[in-house]
Amino acid sequence: MPIKIAPSILSADFANFGAEIRAIEDQGADWVHIDVMDGHFVPNLTFGAPAVKAFRPHVKTVMDVHLMISPVDAYIGAYADAGADILTAHVEAGPHIHRTLQAIRAAGMKAGVALNPGTPAEAVEHVLDLTDLICVMTVNPGFGGQSFIDMTAKIARLRAMCAGRDILIEIDGGVTTDTAPLVAKAGADVLVAGSAVFKDGSVDAPDIYGRNIAAIRKAADGATATLA
Ligand code: DX5
Ligand code: ZN
Repeated sequence: MPIKIAPSILSADFANFGAEIRAIEDQGADWVHIDVMDGHFVPNLTFGAPAVKAFRPHVKTVMDVHLMISPVDAYIGAYADAGADILTAHVEAGPHIHRTLQAIRAAGMKAGVALNPGTPAEAVEHVLDLTDLICVMTVNPGFGGQSFIDMTAKIARLRAMCAGRDILIEIDGGVTTDTAPLVAKAGADVLVAGSAVFKDGSVDAPDIYGRNIAAIRKAADGATATLA
């Protein structure tokens, strides 16, 4: 399966989300990744469900919502109402990830579970039946533009753990043309990229987004092609 590129609008112009989303999709984004931060689970605050609902009409592909909030369960209904296709919660965000994943699916969304760099692959071993996506953080969550933390051993471990299951492995943080080959080779399906996609571009120069997306895709696909 070809790798999917999911630009994170954390690196977009916060005064112009609609146009930014349309621009990255026109320029080849497979999904749109939306980073929700609460200033409590992570030391940064972005936006909540009403904003995500306002983004929805602009997203024609897949709206991939990454919750970096705690608690999670009380807000699941609001993100379903906002139109999230995939809703991802952190395993570290509460004591009941099993219940959270059940509730996300019951609300009609695909269920994602995210792992911080310090959290082992085994933390999701007993919830795989309830999981559609595993988000492997390759930075400590909270900010765009941080340096990549090598999680390739964890990615490979999860790939093996998910053999025969319909679960996507997503990588989030520090993805560039240099790091994309490493995670692609380890078994990633979806690459989130914020700064590497939005770098040097704008809604007035969207072709730069296209060039950045294509360069990441080429770097990732090149790495997996050599495995064949
Ligand atoms: C970090 C977010 C990421 C982030 C990625 O907490 O979850 O999605 O925006 O940004 P870059 O690609 O700039 O590391
Ligand atoms: Zn994210």
